Amino acid sequence: MKVEQEAAVGLLPALGPVQLVMLGVGCIIGAGIFVITGSAAAQYAGPAVVLSFIFAAVACACAGLCYAEMAAMSQESGGAYSYTRQAMGPRIGWLVGWNLIMEYLVAASFVAVGWSGYLSALFSSIGMPLPEAFSSAPFAMEKGKLVTTGALINLPAMFIIAFATFCAVIGVRRSAWANTAVVITKVAVILVVIAVGAFYVNPDLWVPFVPQNTGEFGHYGYSGVLRAAAVVFIAYIGFDAVATTALEARNPQRDVPIGILGSLVICTLLYVGMALVLTGIVPFTELNVPSPVALAVERMGPAMGWLEPLVSLGAIAGLTSVILVLLVAQPRVFFAMSKHGILPSVFGKVHPTWRTPHVGTITTGLVAMALAGLFPIDLLAELVSIGTLTAFMAVSASVLVMRRTHPHLPRPFRVPLVPVVPIVSVAVCLYLMWGLPGDTWWRLVIWLGIGIAIYEYRRRKTGTQS
Ligand code: ALA
Repeated sequence: MKVEQEAAVGLLPALGPVQLVMLGVGCIIGAGIFVITGSAAAQYAGPAVVLSFIFAAVACACAGLCYAEMAAMSQESGGAYSYTRQAMGPRIGWLVGWNLIMEYLVAASFVAVGWSGYLSALFSSIGMPLPEAFSSAPFAMEKGKLVTTGALINLPAMFIIAFATFCAVIGVRRSAWANTAVVITKVAVILVVIAVGAFYVNPDLWVPFVPQNTGEFGHYGYSGVLRAAAVVFIAYIGFDAVATTALEARNPQRDVPIGILGSLVICTLLYVGMALVLTGIVPFTELNVPSPVALAVERMGPAMGWLEPLVSLGAIAGLTSVILVLLVAQPRVFFAMSKHGILPSVFGKVHPTWRTPHVGTITTGLVAMALAGLFPIDLLAELVSIGTLTAFMAVSASVLVMRRTHPHLPRPFRVPLVPVVPIVSVAVCLYLMWGLPGDTWWRLVIWLGIGIAIYEYRRRKTGTQS
């Protein structure tokens, strides 16, 4: 997310380790903890979703260090797209960029659906439930198949995307204080739920910690832990924002790894704490709901009624900022692609007044609105995870390639223990991808097929690409 760097210019001119950790936590914590913790426990891992979070964090830490080296070397916006293009050429760069589009765009829809779940929970907690037909997805995933739910459209999810798109078009940037306020709100809500919830935990619900596999790969047991790790991977997306600030850090070699690893450690602790509390209060099979944290608070009993609206408000505020980050990042990938001639030049146009890539932003917003209005959160999460894992693998491989092809380029930040860290990163990402449901792979293949077709069409039309 090179865009974060642009956003930070003038606001945080000399980033120290604390600001970097805050930036990371602000971008990372979103619908992952507020929604996916519950659905991954219910569908795949049970209480052992805790192990899934730890495993996913290890993969992110390795990939994060690779991101930091590439970000510090690269002078272009476009994130993983730009890094892989530099290292491995335009064709592979485009395919990675095409996956990044899936990551940011679908992730924005994913967080918006989570936002809608907590808005509904908020209205219910004050005795004014929203009509379900207009506040939930008309489709759901059942045994790998898309089925209809009877609902018509998820209007709140579409509304928040429209609002965030508007902010992104007129160039609303998160200021340092706004980021700090949102981070403190999100983390405070999570800490209160964990601290209060600890008194309501029934340890019997954690037994067995790893529920017995049902005979099907990925449904509980250790394969379920792996599958949940791949699905909850989305909860860590956003730490790449820290990597892209490497040029603005006061002491990149020391502070960037502190920022990446520090924010990952903090988020992992919060995720693990929340997963333990949720699965300790609500039987895990009941957690596949749009607002599992609100459900756990409800189960604490009427004495905790005051906490319910606070949790929903905290989630709503926290998720809004993540949606904005994603919708600001996506058009910058389009922007970089347009500059390279692989997307039409209209995506590289900057609005004369607002000085934002408005065409790419509005296009992104419209597609994200459609996805958020129609699809369930778990389907969106799986799509994001596979797209992101592919991009992380490519960035990690790029570090190895660039060390060989451009050994003397200045590197403000260097990955430690090369080649071990990049190789571990590629291996762990591949292993996680293997754990995802088979239909997610098919969706990836179809997405990549469309990407290759667009690339070849543009190459023939413009003759600019190799
Ligand atoms: N990491 C972000 C979230 O969990 C995308 O919502």
